[in-house]
Amino acid sequence: MRRGVDPAEAELLAWLGTDPTRLLGEGGEARVFALDTARVVRVHRAGTDPSRVAARTALLDELAGGECALPALPFAIPHVLEVRERAGRLLSIEARLPGRDMMQALDGIRGEAREALVRSYLEAAARVGDLPLLRPTFGDLIAKRPLRRDRFRDYLRDRAAVGLARVGWDVDPEALARALPEPDRGALVHMDLFPGNVLVEGERVTAVLDFSVVSLFGDRRLDPLAATAYLAPEITPAASARDVRIAREWLASRGLGDWLVAATRWLAAFWCPAVDDARLHGWCRRILLQGDSDPA
Ligand SMILES: Nc1ncnc2c1ncn2[C@@H]1O[C@H](COP(=O)(O)OP(=O)(O)OP(=O)(O)O)[C@@H](O)[C@H]1O
Ligand SMILES: [Mg+2]
Repeated sequence: MRRGVDPAEAELLAWLGTDPTRLLGEGGEARVFALDTARVVRVHRAGTDPSRVAARTALLDELAGGECALPALPFAIPHVLEVRERAGRLLSIEARLPGRDMMQALDGIRGEAREALVRSYLEAAARVGDLPLLRPTFGDLIAKRPLRRDRFRDYLRDRAAVGLARVGWDVDPEALARALPEPDRGALVHMDLFPGNVLVEGERVTAVLDFSVVSLFGDRRLDPLAATAYLAPEITPAASARDVRIAREWLASRGLGDWLVAATRWLAAFWCPAVDDARLHGWCRRILLQGDSDPA
């Protein structure tokens, strides 16, 4: 839900040469406004920890590949041009990315174009692991108190245990982790790749947004599995049962279909402490407490 116009924010926007009508979107962390055709400003919520903004900026710089040639990815990722502070608010000036929110786009697209879009969404999720990133251990990338382990399954177990302990649910984290494979090597995992964090044009994903504190170094197969799990009605109300079927078929064609239930269950343990997001929390309950792991 959109927050109302905040006079302090309107003043900030005027100082930047924009105004509240140029709102492009908002999430839990920030509101994003167009500055011009090439740039946006991310106005971080009041009270945002500057170290969190710095850590996100550093991660995005690293993913941009520095001096190395970038792998040819079919989508753009956020790029921070400058971080400023004004009237106690942190502002990230970022490159404006092409496309519009897939969450909204799903309302107006049908037939073959829709199927192609769902496949492009899965392709994008599967390519996230191609972004350049190397870490000595598996686990959290930019969390303030990162959880990291030498084996990915140990990370999966211990991360699930943290989430489950917070809500007091009697689910065995060891069993959740054991049901998933150990990857041969680590790669970037976005973890929050759902239609609300993706921009699209027509039937193609043009940008993946919101690399964040939940992103990790782990098994890259988790992103396409999560992207399918997140088509659940609690998370993506605009997704249809047919979209889920297309996504499942895509997973099966890549040999990933057998991991969907296990990945969904682990993801529910990961997200279950998000009690302030009633829909997401409801999804976690359905999966783990009612034993219903079907995304549709
Ligand atoms: N660089 C950009 N170019 C164009 N639009 C953008 C850009 N960054 C963000 N947006 C728009 O703003 C919306 C919110 O952005 P984003 O998801 O990054 O915010 P957030 O507050 O970090 O979100 P969350 O609550 O998901 O963590 C996006 O859905 C998108 O519509
Ligand atoms: Mg977002």
